Amino acid sequence: MAESYACLTCGGRTEFVAAALSDRLKISGYALLQLREPLSNSDFIAVGKALGKPITERDAAVQPYVEEGILLNLTTDARRTPDVSLQPFTTDFLTLHTEGSARPARRQPRHVLLMCCAPGNSGTARTVLVPMAMVRRRLSPGDAELLGRVRYHPGEAMPPLLRNARGQEVFSFRDFHTKPLEWVLDGDATEAVLVNPALRRLLVALYTSDGALAVEWRRGMLLAIDNHRFFHGRTVGDGRSPLKPRHLKRLRLLGRQ
Ligand SMILES: [Fe+2]
Repeated sequence: MAESYACLTCGGRTEFVAAALSDRLKISGYALLQLREPLSNSDFIAVGKALGKPITERDAAVQPYVEEGILLNLTTDARRTPDVSLQPFTTDFLTLHTEGSARPARRQPRHVLLMCCAPGNSGTARTVLVPMAMVRRRLSPGDAELLGRVRYHPGEAMPPLLRNARGQEVFSFRDFHTKPLEWVLDGDATEAVLVNPALRRLLVALYTSDGALAVEWRRGMLLAIDNHRFFHGRTVGDGRSPLKPRHLKRLRLLGRQ
């Protein structure tokens, strides 16, 4: 996969950076920008606020990594753990997911904005993006209709795994790997036997669809992801030399209404 990104040498004025990201997000569903140096926290937050409303990081497990209530420092200093909240801080892989898939739709981020302060060891973990459109294309109409009635929890506030958002088919789904995925099915209960096979086909599509991107981080690189258009995850990193950990900063942003 070839990466395509713009290189800004304008000194990183926040409004220029935000406009460049916004333009590319609209066209491609993701945006990569290479700056000469990482932005300061205040400039990074200003760029994020130009794209959406930052979500407060409330999870108690990640508070040691949070600044300004909204900026998460993703450093590879945690040991392998089954705690999903802490998995981003390890050098292990991250399964493909949409951000905030267990939240009500109105509280799910529209965009995830990442900035690289230190790429870590060479050959370290890459962020992987998988286009939802390609995954959807691999599903039959019957599976798509069924997944449009499957939710993690009952209730209208929880989105189905596949929904139509303003004319666009949007997934809300995490690969839970070895953990069981608990679901409920709206409508005809006799169709419940069809759900697990459809979920297996969704997982196959997720990991075998065309168009996946793998981002190799460099210091000063920014990546914005449209959470309505791409799944994301991470390949396994090189955890042998903790003297050179990777350090990304992250903002999660609600969409503009
Ligand atoms: Fe994520």
